[in-house]
Amino acid sequence: MFVDWGKKYGVGVQTFDTHHMHLFELMNNLADAITCNKESLKKKEILEELGDYSLIHLDAEEKAMEAHGYPDYENHKKEHMVMRNRIAEFHEQQASETIALSALLDFIADWWTTHITKTDRRYSSFFNEKGLK
Ligand SMILES: [Fe+2]
Ligand SMILES: [Fe+2]
Repeated sequence: MFVDWGKKYGVGVQTFDTHHMHLFELMNNLADAITCNKESLKKKEILEELGDYSLIHLDAEEKAMEAHGYPDYENHKKEHMVMRNRIAEFHEQQASETIALSALLDFIADWWTTHITKTDRRYSSFFNEKGLK
């Protein structure tokens, strides 16, 4: 397995844990498709799904933070912007077929694992106190 979801990635909010688990699943699917050298259409499809689902998740977190007045909202959003920009960038690269998939997947996996453990986990007690568990 390329990335293995475990307790250390738990953020204490079920919806977001479920989102994160699905992101891990998509990253693993993409890693498998690269390793097995599946046809590029398949790889493209998974990458597309990973990008779309990433945006859905980032939006959901930001909406919840805004709705509940999360104090570190601006900084958190800034960090999300790095992934948003990377997704926009790979859409452009994909259009011109110049994409280096393995390097991109390494970046994506590194970003998510770091972001979840270092940044997302900081909102756990805040959301729990607001009744989001
Ligand atoms: Fe986040
Ligand atoms: Fe997250």
